[in-house]
Amino acid sequence: MRTIAHISDLHFGRLDAPVAEGLIADLAGRKPDLLVVSGDLTQRARRRQYADAMAFLKRLPSPQLVVPGNHDIPMFNMAARFFTPVRKYRQMVTRDLRPVYEDEQMLVIGLNSARSFTRISGWLNREQMAFAEARFAAAKGKFKVLVTHHPFFPPPRRPDANVIRGGEKYLAALSAVEVDLVLSGHLHLAYHDDLRSHFKASRRGVLSIQAGTATSTRRRGEPNAYNWITVSPQLCTVAVRAWAGKAFEESLVTRYESDESGWHKIQQVPIDQVGAEVMSDVNKQ
Ligand SMILES: [Fe+2]
Ligand SMILES: [Fe+2]
Repeated sequence: MRTIAHISDLHFGRLDAPVAEGLIADLAGRKPDLLVVSGDLTQRARRRQYADAMAFLKRLPSPQLVVPGNHDIPMFNMAARFFTPVRKYRQMVTRDLRPVYEDEQMLVIGLNSARSFTRISGWLNREQMAFAEARFAAAKGKFKVLVTHHPFFPPPRRPDANVIRGGEKYLAALSAVEVDLVLSGHLHLAYHDDLRSHFKASRRGVLSIQAGTATSTRRRGEPNAYNWITVSPQLCTVAVRAWAGKAFEESLVTRYESDESGWHKIQQVPIDQVGAEVMSDVNKQ
């Protein structure tokens, strides 16, 4: 079994400071095997914002795996945007744009889906996919996770949201090398489901988990939140921990089981039932 704390869209420059302190407090007693940060560390890719974001990340559990988001590329300085888009990110966060975490049970790979030529959509390229596919194919029997800033498909309530171009094609390639899980952010909406909820023809499932904005004021009708994820070979539990005014609290717990056809949602516990530990079968597919 492995645990992942999945935070996203910190947006230093548009920070909600009490929420940020609350996140540190909530993670203080926790020891995830990995902390994933799926992009948008900053609001405008400024040096000060990167410095503040890194000081913040130093106060959170390690090891950490970080990928950049579209806000981590300069927006108004066109020379920097097109000629050195990730220079500050590489100087101040990590030089590694395809970070890897691997232990005896789990392989996690991060890829940069942000591009200079678009402010919103996500892109991957052949070279990135070849790297990830080769590493995943070699990790027989491990739980396999890909991290990108942009999600591969949108939540049902925002079908027009910006996602990774060609997501269906990439997910087919990822499922062929038995990737179990993709983690992303960008939309500031917490959402998770099997890829077959969007791409019906897929033979094998990949579970997509999207995080809300952990610490920024750029909320889109949802509270700040992050995901506490527990994985084992055929089981994945996603606990959304949302800001409740004074602290982060568990707001929704969903349990998935996988078989040869993919991930199936078996239990979901909404916020008003968490305390009573009432569970109900939902959406058995
Ligand atoms: Fe964002
Ligand atoms: Fe973003």
